[in-house]
Amino acid sequence: MAQFLQEIITSHKESWDPNYTRDFIDAFLTQQEKMRNTPNTSFLEDKMITSLLGLFAAGTETTSTTINWGLLFMVLHPDVQSRVHEEIDRVIGKGRRPRLEDREEMPFTNAVIHETQRLGNIVPISLPHEAYRDTTVMGYTIPKGTMIIPNISSALLDEDIWLTPHQFNPGHFLDSDGKFVKPEAFIPFSAGHRVCLGEQLAKTELFIFFTSILQRFTLFLPENEARPSYKEAQFGITLCPLPYRLRAKAR
Ligand code: HEM
Repeated sequence: MAQFLQEIITSHKESWDPNYTRDFIDAFLTQQEKMRNTPNTSFLEDKMITSLLGLFAAGTETTSTTINWGLLFMVLHPDVQSRVHEEIDRVIGKGRRPRLEDREEMPFTNAVIHETQRLGNIVPISLPHEAYRDTTVMGYTIPKGTMIIPNISSALLDEDIWLTPHQFNPGHFLDSDGKFVKPEAFIPFSAGHRVCLGEQLAKTELFIFFTSILQRFTLFLPENEARPSYKEAQFGITLCPLPYRLRAKAR
């Protein structure tokens, strides 16, 4: 990965123009130039590579794993899939690609994507943090240096908040008029100062990828194949569905 990134950085350097920022690498190079004579600057090439590796690691598997869950929920719930198809056909049609602005008019599809993130629960214990000073939370003393592991699952699967916490139910994100609502306990990107930096990008990607796939395909389980389980998962960098097969038929 580092070698792959190094090649991209080299080609950026060759065509770098401080008056025209194409992307993160250009912005970093510009800042590096400005800070050239600043002692202890963080704008060094190895830091750029670390940042880029972080963006790749945090930004690719998370989104693809969520889509993986979404496709699984669609084959397990054909009735929900039909309603998504109906909304896509009504709002977007088949003649053009989905746009982010369509989301406003697609509360059901938006609810399905949110419910996928809730039940998929792909980063159940977020990332560890460390208390940088002594502090108190709800009467508990947390000494400086304590490692804090947030429990995101406790919110996403909270039995006091969600009607059917362990079952796929887009109704969790719809009010009685079918309008989209987002309960406060929906925190798949964590919360606070260190909330996921890519939240907006991820939400855009999830909407565009999910609607683009369903605009073109009907997804279903191969015949004579056991129904895959959504209750088991493999835990790596993210919590991912067990391998399953699906069929996609062009619509
Ligand atoms: C569905 C997709 C995603 C989910 C569920 C997700 C979730 C999370 C979570 C739970 C954290 C930990 C927050 C904390 O420390 O409290 C995090 C951090 C982070 N995410 Fe995401 N993420 C997603 C997509 C992305 C994308 C697309 C990017 C960028 C390209 C990204 C970049 C980052 C970065 C850089 C951090 C570290 C932020 C920091 O420590 O200040 N994420 N993400």
